[in-house]
Amino acid sequence: MSTFMRKPVSVLLREAETGAMNRALGPVSLTTLGVGAIIGAGIFVLTGQAAAQYAGPGIVLSFVLAGVACAFAGLAYAELASMIPVAGSAYTYAYATLGQFLAWIIGWDLILEYSLGAATVAVGWSGYVVSFLHDLGINVPAPLASAPGMAVLYPHTGQTDAIFNLPAALIVLAVTLLLVRGIKESARANAAVVLVKLTVIALFLVAGVSAVNPANWEPFIPENTGTFGQYGWSGILRGAGVIFFAYIGFDAVSTAAQETRNPGRDLPIGILVSLVICTVLYIAVSLVITGIVPYHVLGVPDPIAVAIDAAGIPWLRFVIKAGAIAGLSSVVLVMLLAQPRIFYSMARDGFLPPVFARLHPRFKTPHVTTIVTGFLVALAAGLFPIGVLGELVSIGTLLAFVLVCVGVVVLRYTAPDAPRPFRTPGSPWLPLLGAASCLYLMAGLPLATWLRLAAWLAAGLVIYLAYGRRRATARLQQAIAGE
Ligand code: ALA
Repeated sequence: MSTFMRKPVSVLLREAETGAMNRALGPVSLTTLGVGAIIGAGIFVLTGQAAAQYAGPGIVLSFVLAGVACAFAGLAYAELASMIPVAGSAYTYAYATLGQFLAWIIGWDLILEYSLGAATVAVGWSGYVVSFLHDLGINVPAPLASAPGMAVLYPHTGQTDAIFNLPAALIVLAVTLLLVRGIKESARANAAVVLVKLTVIALFLVAGVSAVNPANWEPFIPENTGTFGQYGWSGILRGAGVIFFAYIGFDAVSTAAQETRNPGRDLPIGILVSLVICTVLYIAVSLVITGIVPYHVLGVPDPIAVAIDAAGIPWLRFVIKAGAIAGLSSVVLVMLLAQPRIFYSMARDGFLPPVFARLHPRFKTPHVTTIVTGFLVALAAGLFPIGVLGELVSIGTLLAFVLVCVGVVVLRYTAPDAPRPFRTPGSPWLPLLGAASCLYLMAGLPLATWLRLAAWLAAGLVIYLAYGRRRATARLQQAIAGE
């Protein structure tokens, strides 16, 4: 049955050899790419909202919980990325391990992660920009600063129904232009921004720590209201599902595999080091932020700035907003960098029309896909609120992580002798624990989010049956015959 056909690792490696992209990235740029992708709207925006609505100060435990799940998944990614260093990430791994149908499902699912992820962060960016401009005395018209139908949140604008989130759409389009120019330029711009982002977080921690009032941590886990997900343990679990978003991005490192000089060594370094740096920072930031102010005032578009205000350091508010704006831009960049590269792999495999695999003759970037993706993401960023986008991205990514963890185990059995420059320790138990912990986080997310995921996957199934299946099968048979 073609549905279960797997793509042999040897074919994948041969394809990687013939890839026409520039091999420009080393371990430092990869780690920087990872941190650039990871620290973003999750910590700058969603932490406050998840603390206010779901977990209270217990959000710190949510970060630990989500961090553990990501550590398992990070190890699994590191093994597969070093073993199969081909653009396409989890999608490619699934094709090698779980067969054609699940590969398509993951590829389709990753659109949620990267495209909607970029849209989510762009909405977070818009929140900080609008608030920053307001501090400068410039008021972006409220109806043009939020998703349609949203009652506008900013105090200076009052309650109006919004039409379109224009700043969010504009940042997406600007980043798209940069990406068409080339990966080297993009990586360089990213490195500068990552430095700014880390500095801002360090400043927040140093300045904030002395303003912590331990009374704000009492009770550390507010009592459950009687509804699943509203405080108590279920609130921590739901909080973990929501702020899981904050960790997304380490896996984006693996999408740049074909542009990496020494993938076997550098990809695991990039993935694991960036994950560790961010986990430590997140736990520290969530402790400090919930220590400075009572958690229920954090449900705003710019919670870090609110905490700094309360700490009585007004000049820092300005610096933090500017840093957050720069930092959020770099996340949009990495996500928009990753998406076309996944489309590229899927198109090469016949799941999508060939135009998605076309590279620009001079810049060597998948320019057509970059532009199409940018346009659609800009639209999504303008039309949907951050909560809806973020939860859908989290659930979609968690599903991809489950399959990647399972993939490691499957490949240990189906290709036991293939070279593995990096091996996940404790297989099969550790990867299986990884899959189970990601499923557990998914279980905490609201029913509406599950239904949206189901609708998205159902649409993917229709496209697979109507378009991808026949073409991908033919392509794979051809590739295997050419070995
Ligand atoms: N982890 C990224 C962020 O929080 C997606 O913005």
